Amino acid sequence: MSFIISIILITILSSNLPAQNEPLIQNPDGRHGLSLDGAWQIIIDPYDNGYYDYRYQPRGDGYFLNQKSRSESDLIEYDFDRSETLNVPGDWNSQQVKLFLYEGTIWYKKDFQYHQQPGHRLFLYFGAANYAAQVYLNSQKIGEHIGGFTPFNFEITDRIMDGNNFLIVRVNDQRRREGVPTLNTDWWNYGGLTRSVRLIETPQTFIRDYFIQLKKNSRDTIQGWIQLDGNSLKQSLKVNIPAAGISQKVVTNEQGYAEFTFKGKLELWSPENPKLYDVEIAAKSDTVLDRIGFRTISCDGAKLLLNGSPIFLRGVSIHEQTPLREGRACTAADDRRLLTWAKELGCNFVRLAHYPHNEPMLRLADEMGLMVWSEIPVYWTILFDNPEVYQNASRQLSEMLSRDKNRAAIIIWSVGNETPRGDARLEFLKGLIGQIREYDPTRLISAATELNYSDNTIMINDPLSNYLDVIGANEYLGWYVRKPEEIPLLAWKNTYAKPLIISEFGAGAKFGYHGKPITRWTEEYQNRVYELQIEMLQKIPCLAGITPWILTDFRSPRRPLPEIQDFWNRKGLISEKGEKKMAFYTLQKFYQQLQQ
Ligand code: GCU
Repeated sequence: MSFIISIILITILSSNLPAQNEPLIQNPDGRHGLSLDGAWQIIIDPYDNGYYDYRYQPRGDGYFLNQKSRSESDLIEYDFDRSETLNVPGDWNSQQVKLFLYEGTIWYKKDFQYHQQPGHRLFLYFGAANYAAQVYLNSQKIGEHIGGFTPFNFEITDRIMDGNNFLIVRVNDQRRREGVPTLNTDWWNYGGLTRSVRLIETPQTFIRDYFIQLKKNSRDTIQGWIQLDGNSLKQSLKVNIPAAGISQKVVTNEQGYAEFTFKGKLELWSPENPKLYDVEIAAKSDTVLDRIGFRTISCDGAKLLLNGSPIFLRGVSIHEQTPLREGRACTAADDRRLLTWAKELGCNFVRLAHYPHNEPMLRLADEMGLMVWSEIPVYWTILFDNPEVYQNASRQLSEMLSRDKNRAAIIIWSVGNETPRGDARLEFLKGLIGQIREYDPTRLISAATELNYSDNTIMINDPLSNYLDVIGANEYLGWYVRKPEEIPLLAWKNTYAKPLIISEFGAGAKFGYHGKPITRWTEEYQNRVYELQIEMLQKIPCLAGITPWILTDFRSPRRPLPEIQDFWNRKGLISEKGEKKMAFYTLQKFYQQLQQ
């Protein structure tokens, strides 16, 4: 029995992690329902008094009961309806100064009216909640979720009341050694209901999930599957792609599952031509519409091939940090601002670091023609030998794959960033790689590895590379390692005939701070590093792309330098106020040259 299977069995049997969540409903915004976004009442609960009693035992009369004093002598020491509010979606840190550094529990409550159509089903869908969430409907526990960057949903058909309802969510973002990510990250731990919350109403039997993409290395064979959920599972459905003249009959089995393969003449998706098709899946009781692009991505030795033709990935790394204001990006406008800057830079590729970004960001990348590297927060030194940590990472991975599998823009799944070499780590990441290969054979797998430096030679020799399709490598030559002027002296040794992406390089600069190129934090210093890196990069064997660190300055609790950082990581090419630094134009010029 393989290491991974034994881990999974041990964890399921002994875990105090929440049971496996309900399978995700694909394309939540394409469904009927009701948004629960807006102002939610909150109770800030630093001592988790609403959950634990004074003996630190979970209490039966917690805040999830939403109790009200019924008489003047009643003792109820909280009251949601007289409490302050926070906006959802949105992190709490950027909404109130007193919450800027807050890590702990906040209780959210939302009252809503609902009249369910008879015979229909109802689901609660959360885009994300950082980090751990317990969900209660009308005081009844509905479920829980761990992981701050992936969605979860619960069926509430038998729990909803006709008319008034109240939803309470306990969100806790305390960092944990056994967490994914673990205690230290170089990004702000934005807590709360950071993405949209909605009700999804479906017919009794509905199209719960589907995967429709081109077969690997084929330009005209569409392959995929459909999963129904309900009591009439054996059905004849239609997959319609009117613009391509496709109307394909598909029949589900007793379990409501159908796989299909059929031919179709399609215009392929690419950055130059981000063609998306209206795809309709029509079952007897339910119809779902989606916009899907079709493309193939593969490797030929060290070459990356998009739709069979070699490509170079002109990229940039991006954190899900709102531009121009504080906080985690959570609106379409935030996403469009970030991706528009990337396009302006001349990018055809973005690395969305270090966790799955919000779904609208991926759909926008589809639309704008930006290829994507998507990653789970297996970041730095998580506990690789801990089975529960594996199960947590594996579940976050399955949620990312499930949510975004129909996005043509995503060409690479990454299983981690700068993780330390070692046997437990290798087994852990091999397990995740195996999980992806089983679920999605259409995309490439990578990870951001670290390099070995000896004298003037840089070696790409992380054993993990044997299991990757594309090798990602982070290097900070001229910033953390060596002086800028030494960069041209360095040689690269790469024994892997696989595409290589320099997934991070860069330097810090405070916008508007000018001086000599040897003076740290000046725009000139950062720009010098870019000039020298660009020269060196072109000599690296097997280089298939780059994603410099990073598009915009972003909040980091590890960056306290006064008047320079002030809790901002300053490696952005653009400041947090949207001001472009000198290096932005240097990279833009390089990308223009590459397109000539
Ligand atoms: C690391 C890491 C990033 C971090 C960056 C930096 O390589 O992957 O998350 O922000 O370096 O130090 O700026």
